[in-house]
Amino acid sequence: MSDTLLTKREAGVLTLTFNRPEKKNAFTHAMYEAATQALKQAEGDAEARVVLLTGAGSVFTAGNDIGDFMEHPPAGEDSAVFRFLKALVDAPMPVLAAVDGPAVGIGTTMLLHCDYVVATERARFHMPFVQLGLCAEGASSMLLPRVAGYALASELLLFGEPFDAATALRAGIINKVVPDTSLHEVAAERARTLASRPAEAVRVTKRLIREPLRQRTHQVLATEGSEFIQRLGSTEAQEAFMAFMSRGRK
Ligand code: COA
Repeated sequence: MSDTLLTKREAGVLTLTFNRPEKKNAFTHAMYEAATQALKQAEGDAEARVVLLTGAGSVFTAGNDIGDFMEHPPAGEDSAVFRFLKALVDAPMPVLAAVDGPAVGIGTTMLLHCDYVVATERARFHMPFVQLGLCAEGASSMLLPRVAGYALASELLLFGEPFDAATALRAGIINKVVPDTSLHEVAAERARTLASRPAEAVRVTKRLIREPLRQRTHQVLATEGSEFIQRLGSTEAQEAFMAFMSRGRK
């Protein structure tokens, strides 16, 4: 696997660590490819009963790498970011996430596809799509209103302001908030516990929970994706990206 995505398999738990701490674990297309490949391989791996997503260096992820996005904009449903999201939606095994620090953009929306999420008190969630001239992605336009209700989902997606772990809990994005120091211990315990449950029963139960909305989720991913790609080429988005990229040079 690549240096920017670390993989570890232990006691039935496949841990995928986003590992680009100097760039706040922002996702390049290579990281999406590596994560997709890891999820696909796990599907056929009886020893990977549970997947645990986490980030290196007290950060979950700053979302899409904006520079990489400008250089390699996703062109369609076969692009790296969409293939990653589709693999996550189709993952037959439970996917857990341990979130510390910033979880921006897809760093928040990917959690809507996870089956159990634990976050620290200092975790900060953020879906700044509108500020960036973009639009909701990761099927968040459908899934967030379902878990959070229209009022809170609209507030979080339209204003696009950062929010804390207590709000993420209220929004139904995460399951549990823990002190910073116990994140990995709590996440590992939950992952090991689930990995020790009868594997087929776990997979069937996950499928029963997710299946009613799975095809619909794929449709929404596609609809959002085509809007998102159009937005990427918009003046609004280009200006927002240039502003981000030139921050330190002013
Ligand atoms: N894409 C590219 N580079 C990013 C990035 C991203 N999404 N997020 C952070 N980085 C880079 C910064 O440019 C900086 O690089 P530099 O040291 O070469 O200048 C480095 O990571 C550290 O980021 P910095 O902003 O200095 O850290 P911070 O602790 O002050 O803030 C964040 C962290 C995550 C809150 C902030 O970086 C941020 O908001 N990033 C933008 C996230 C975003 O909009 N993502 C959605 C994309 S769709």
